[in-house]
Amino acid sequence: MIYVTRMIHFCAAHRLYDATLSEEENRERFGECANLHGHDYTLEVTVAGEPDERTGMLVHLSKLDTIVCERVVDRLDHKNLNVDVPVFSDVVPTIEMLAKYVWEELDGGIPEVSLHRVRIHEDDLTADYYGEAD
Ligand code: NI
Repeated sequence: MIYVTRMIHFCAAHRLYDATLSEEENRERFGECANLHGHDYTLEVTVAGEPDERTGMLVHLSKLDTIVCERVVDRLDHKNLNVDVPVFSDVVPTIEMLAKYVWEELDGGIPEVSLHRVRIHEDDLTADYYGEAD
């Protein structure tokens, strides 16, 4: 089994905020992160499989890039996650929930390989998601 990881950068804004709570409760829970602010993100998508004997490749990188961009990055890049990404209208757009979102968008959608890990870097913070435990 070979693992290949593609890294893609994007920027987005968010606020950590629960609309069912008061402003004060949000401040207590999320601190300064309750204010709208931006991050530089790096997304790592790791796929697993066996390389094709003739091409020597696990996955065509241009195809992988197209899928990741269309399904994920184009929807997140330079967006306000709370407002522009429907799933985050009632899910707090933390790095954890972002990693799960990316997994759910990509899992099963990349031909020939299986999705192994979604890793997101948000400034100095990193989250890994390997899908639901069996
Ligand atoms: Ni933040």
